[in-house]
Formats: sequence, structure tokens, C-alpha cells
Amino acid sequence: MQLTKLRGFRDLIGPDVRLMSVIEEQARLIARQHNVAEIRVPVLERLDLYARSTGETSDIVEKQLYVVQRSPDSLGVHDHVLRPEGTPGVVRAYIEAGLDRSDPDQRYFYCGPMFRYERPQKGRYREFYQFGVEFFGRPDAAADAELMVMIDELRHALRLELTFEINSLGDAQCRPIFRQQLLEWGRKHLAELCDDCHQRLERNPLRLLDCKIDVKLTATAPKSGDFLCEPCRAHFDSVRDLLTDAGVPYKLNPRLVRGLDYYSRTAFEVISTRIGAQSAVAAGGRYDGLVETLGGAPVAGTGFAIGIDRLALVLDARKFELRPDATLIALGDSAVPVAMRLSGEMRAAGLRVELLSPERGLKALLRKADKIGARYALIIGEDEIARGTAQLRDLRLSTQREIACADAAQVIVAESRETSDHEPGS
Ligand code: HAM
Repeated sequence: MQLTKLRGFRDLIGPDVRLMSVIEEQARLIARQHNVAEIRVPVLERLDLYARSTGETSDIVEKQLYVVQRSPDSLGVHDHVLRPEGTPGVVRAYIEAGLDRSDPDQRYFYCGPMFRYERPQKGRYREFYQFGVEFFGRPDAAADAELMVMIDELRHALRLELTFEINSLGDAQCRPIFRQQLLEWGRKHLAELCDDCHQRLERNPLRLLDCKIDVKLTATAPKSGDFLCEPCRAHFDSVRDLLTDAGVPYKLNPRLVRGLDYYSRTAFEVISTRIGAQSAVAAGGRYDGLVETLGGAPVAGTGFAIGIDRLALVLDARKFELRPDATLIALGDSAVPVAMRLSGEMRAAGLRVELLSPERGLKALLRKADKIGARYALIIGEDEIARGTAQLRDLRLSTQREIACADAAQVIVAESRETSDHEPGS
């Protein structure tokens, strides 16, 4: 039997992983600028955690969990699962550290793989990566707006076209009324609803609005916006005003309900029109009751997660190619330590450099330097060692000149700043 990867799982090689790291690095930078600290939580958690947060009737818990059998003795015990999303684990860790009581106002980011047993297609995988942010102890609208500003900053940094869609789902006061109205509406239209909606109706009527089949029909269903209580209405207005003020363009989407149960008030999705059916590249919202539901103090929470794999599909790989500023070519054994030392000096000057294999001939090495996109090759042979110099070859212009080794780093930094389309070292 040939050993191949599992369906829906991917080996990330070349441009795929490069784009994902670009997104991750940029997201980390933005998180740092917003004074958000990193948190790392386990990949394996108890099933109960997700049943009580993501929701027992959510697709994620009902159909998509990867259950892990711990040992042969645990046969039939299905209580450990691979995390399908980041929020519940972070909330659990926050409560377990006692922060909900001792120091509730916290902001975290996390990054890592999530697992959902979904039908794989473009942009939808069984293992995928999220970069998420969670704010605790912040019931105010500014927290929701700041989270969306963070995504908007990422959008700018990566020069992407994305649309924000937002809605308010109300709170424990007003959502039950909305839920009841939806239930009654659904019962009235029972005959016209699809099979899935029949299931959703009694268990989680909000999900009726999620239906991709009954789109025309559900357009006539009650909308959460019409049932918001006064405090929820004011909160939502405030989020919208702050977004407008911050220049984050958004659309109201009264059908946006999210497939996870813990949301209250603000819910949002960030959509790209460039990647087909799986168009949500990030999503999030407020979950004010969740800390308490999971056994903690009544502390507000709000957050988002970016689907890194999906966002990578929108990026143009060519714009983020990794190219060394220079390659070093050592001709002969005695040139190797000189080239090693020189490459260290060049890195210290902020350059990206690669020392090529000394085992091959000059012609092959120059071809290799060109292939990996280096602008310069520094060639060092016996004669150059004697003179304390190197041959600086500009691979783009096919010119060559001799420079002092001591000047090499500065010359390359200065010349690439002047003539190259990318900052040296980037
Ligand atoms: P979610 O909408 O389930 O929310 O996932 C967030 C993002 O993860 C999606 O918008 C999508 O880009 C990506 N994603 C989800 N499933 C897959 C998949 N199978 N393949 C590739 N990408 C996928 C959450 O997970 C919440 N925890 C977000 C949150 C944080 N809400 C508050 N805080």
C-alpha cells in the first residue's frame, strides 16, 4: 500500500506555505501593535468543551469532530477530540488560569491547525490553520470595532479586496423573542423548507437563515435587527458608527447568524469574492455569555479567526516570492570559510544570503543563483582570498567587478536599495 496523506489534509510546500507564513507574520505584527499577547492551548480537548460552547446542534459538533481514541482500553470512550476551532480552548484556559476572577481584562491571539471532518473542496480542508484573537472583559462596542480594524489593517498590508458583513444577534433578553418568531415562521412554511431546514427548525431555528437552498424563502423570514432590545440596538449602532469612523467599509447582512452557538450581539464575516463558494476568509463576533457557560465568572468576550489557508488563496504568490539578495560562491576548499564569514557579515547587515554548495562548478552555481532569483553573486577564489576581495556579479545586468570583502555588505545594501523593487532582507 502506498502511504499517502489523508483526504482533506495537505502538505504545505513552496508558494502555499510561503503565503501562509506571510499572512501569519503580518497578523502577528498587527497583534503586537494592538498589544495583544500570544496564547497557546492544546490541540486535543474534551468533546464536552465544544458541545457546551460551539453547540450540541452545530454542524461542527454533530458531524465534524475528529474523535481520538486514547488507548486500546479506552475503546468506545469518545471524549477526546481534535480542536475544530480555537475559541473554546482559549476560554477554557482563561478560566482555568483564574483570570476571569483575578484579572478579567485580557487580550490574546493564537495561531495553529484546526480539524473539521468536512467535505473537502477548494478553500475547505479537514486540517486548516486559523489566526484568532480573543478579547475578554470588554463589553464595549469599541472592542468589536477594534477587532474588525485589525482585520482591515491586514487587508491593507496585504493589499486585498475584502468585504465586511455584520449583523447583531441580540442578547439573552431579545434573542429568545427572535428565535420564537423564526420558529413560528418556519412552522408556517414547513412544506416549503428543505430537509436540512426541517432538522434545524426545532433544534436551532436561527440556522434556518444559513440555508443555502431556501435562499429566496428565508429572505422573507424575520430578521434579528427587528427584534433587538434597546441596549443591543444602541451597542450595534455604536459598533457601526465606530467602523464608519475608522474607515472600515462594511455591509449589513441581516441573514448572518453564524454556525456556532455562542454568539451574542455583534457577528461578522469577512468575504472575498475571488475564491468561489468558500468565500469567508475570517469571521467572528461577541460571545458575552460563554465564559459563564463554561463555568467562569460573567465576563464579556469577543473575537475573530482568520482562515489562513483561505486567505492565502486570495494572495498573488508572485508578489511574495522569497529571493535572496545575494548568493556566495566559494571556489576551492580554502574559500569556504572566507565565504561563510562573509555571509555572516552580510546577514548582520540585514541581507538575505545563501551560500551555494562548493561542490559544483562556477557555471552551474551561477545558473542556480539565477534560478533562485538572487540579484548578486559574490564569487571568491584563491586569487580573491589573497587580495581580500570578491567578484561581485550582478546577475540581472550580467556585469562583474571586484570589490573589497570588507565593503561587500554595504555595497549590496546600497545598490539594491537604489535599483531593486524590494527592500534588502525582505
Ligand atoms: P468559523 O467561522 O468557524 O469561526 O471559522 C473562522 C474561519 O476559519 C472561516 O471564516 C474560514 O476562513 C476558516 N475555516 C473554517 N473552516 C475551514 C475549513 N474547513 N477549511 C479552511 N478554512 C476554514 C470560528 O472558528 C470562531 N472560533 C471565530 C471566533 C473567534 N469567534 C469569536 N472568536
